[in-house]
Order: sequence, then C-alpha cells, then structure tokens
Amino acid sequence: MTAQVLDGKAIAAVVRGEVKERAEAFAAKYGRRAGLHVVLVGDDPASQVYVRNKEMAAGKAGLAGQVHRLPADTSQAELEALVEKLNADPAIDGILVQLPLPAGLDAQPVLDRLAPEKDVDGLTPMSAGLLLDGRPGLRPCTPSGCMRLLREAGLDDLSGKRAIVIGRSLLVGKPIALMLLAKNATVTMAHSRTANLAEECARADIVVAAVGRAELVKREWIREGAVVIDVGINRGDDGKLVGDVAYAECAERASWITPVPGGVGPMTIAMLLDNTVAAAERREAAKA
Ligand code: GUN
Repeated sequence: MTAQVLDGKAIAAVVRGEVKERAEAFAAKYGRRAGLHVVLVGDDPASQVYVRNKEMAAGKAGLAGQVHRLPADTSQAELEALVEKLNADPAIDGILVQLPLPAGLDAQPVLDRLAPEKDVDGLTPMSAGLLLDGRPGLRPCTPSGCMRLLREAGLDDLSGKRAIVIGRSLLVGKPIALMLLAKNATVTMAHSRTANLAEECARADIVVAAVGRAELVKREWIREGAVVIDVGINRGDDGKLVGDVAYAECAERASWITPVPGGVGPMTIAMLLDNTVAAAERREAAKA
C-alpha cells in the first residue's frame, strides 16, 4: 500500500477561510474584532518563528491583537502581572504564552493565572479538566488540529479502532489521547519507558507520534493500512526538517500519513485562530 497524504496545508487553508468568515461576522455584530494577544519571553529562535507565523496568520484572518515581546530576564512577578492585565482587558479574547519559557521562569503559575475563558491554547488546569470530563471548552491547538485532519479525511469514526499515542506531554500527548478516547478509540499511551514500543505500535490502526525524536517510528512499526499522524518537528542530520516518523518507508505501509513539514504544523495555527474566534463568541454570548 502507498499512503494518501493528509495535507495539513490545504486543510488549514480551509479552516482559516472559515475562521475569517466568522471573524468578519463577529466584527460586524459586536463592533470590534476578536483579539488575540501572544506573550513571548526571551529570544529562543524557534519560538520567534512560531510567534511571527501566529501573528501574520491572525492578521490575515481578521483578528486584532498584539505580541508582547519581553526580555529573557523578565521576572516571574512581571510575567504574571502582564497575564493579569491581559485577563482584565475586555478587548482581549485570547491569550497565549509561548512555551518554553526561558530558564528561571516557571510556566505553571503563569498558566494557573490565565483566565480560562481566554485560554486559547487550552493549557490551563480548567481547560484540561473540561477535556477530561468531556465538557465543552477550549482545547489545545495541536491535538485539535490532528483530530480535524482525521475528520476532513473521513477517518474519525474510531469505534473498534486501536490508537497509540507516543509521547505524554500536556501540549499534545495527553490531550490527544483523551480526544481519541472521546471518539471511542481504544487508546494506548506510550512513552520513553514503554517496553516493546515497536510491537505496541504495530497493533495500532492510528499512530500519533509526538515525542520529538527524529524518525523514531520505522516501517516495521506500522501495521498495513494504519493512519499515521506525525506531530514531530526535528532537524535531521542534514539540517532538513523531519518528523518523528521515517516518512518514506512508513508511507509504504500506511493508508494515510501526514508529511513534515505541511502536515500537523499548519493545523496548529489554524486551530489557534479557530479557538480565538470561539472564545470571543462565547465571551460575548455570556454577556447577553
Ligand atoms: N510551543 C510549541 N508549541 C506551542 C503551542 O502550541 N503553544 C504554546 N504556548 N507554546 C508552544
């Protein structure tokens, strides 16, 4: 079998188009644009690129907003005070604190302070709890993007299917396991201490790789006809971007596979925009 490509770039463009329409309707109805504010501390080069991409995409989708760029020596108290200020500003619908924070700053108390109704990254304890409980709420963007890819390809009827998630981060692994479970998949959560990872993986109909290890997942790990979602973005030996999946060899066995780049990555930003408009709509509805 040769896999069909799950084209994140194309599907993200569809999502961004939908968001733009909703953002315009929101602005017409409420006389203001939905507002996304991003906090970037320090000068991590990858974070700078991600934030710049978010900023450009937000502008194109018709959102208002701002990036707050803070120096690496910002104190914990200063960062938390900024989050409180953004929480209190009625024109702001979404707040995203780009991770990782520089050494010396602790993300947890910052996220604990973030107003759950503005948590467009879905990382606060409240958002995580709502997901755990299967209640509506703002979901983390990367796993939402993966689920949207499955839906667009007609692959989201997961009853009776086995899924494996490799990686247990708050950003991706844990939330996507819950999302797959909510779609009735039988989910295995694998991680760096899992024994016989290749064998576990080879039983799965859906493989989500989110560990951050370049080309970890090999051909023999993939069951014939499996759907492979690669969340990894790593630099290969030759400096090229590669995922957590050895793409060419796994594509020979999978039925569907996401490329890197052009798979999950573009979906993350699209879902952030989607969350921002959803947060804005909910905040206005709550006032009515
Ligand atoms: N760093 C890498 N990905 C993400 C993300 O989705 N959200 C935040 N806040 N930081 C990140």
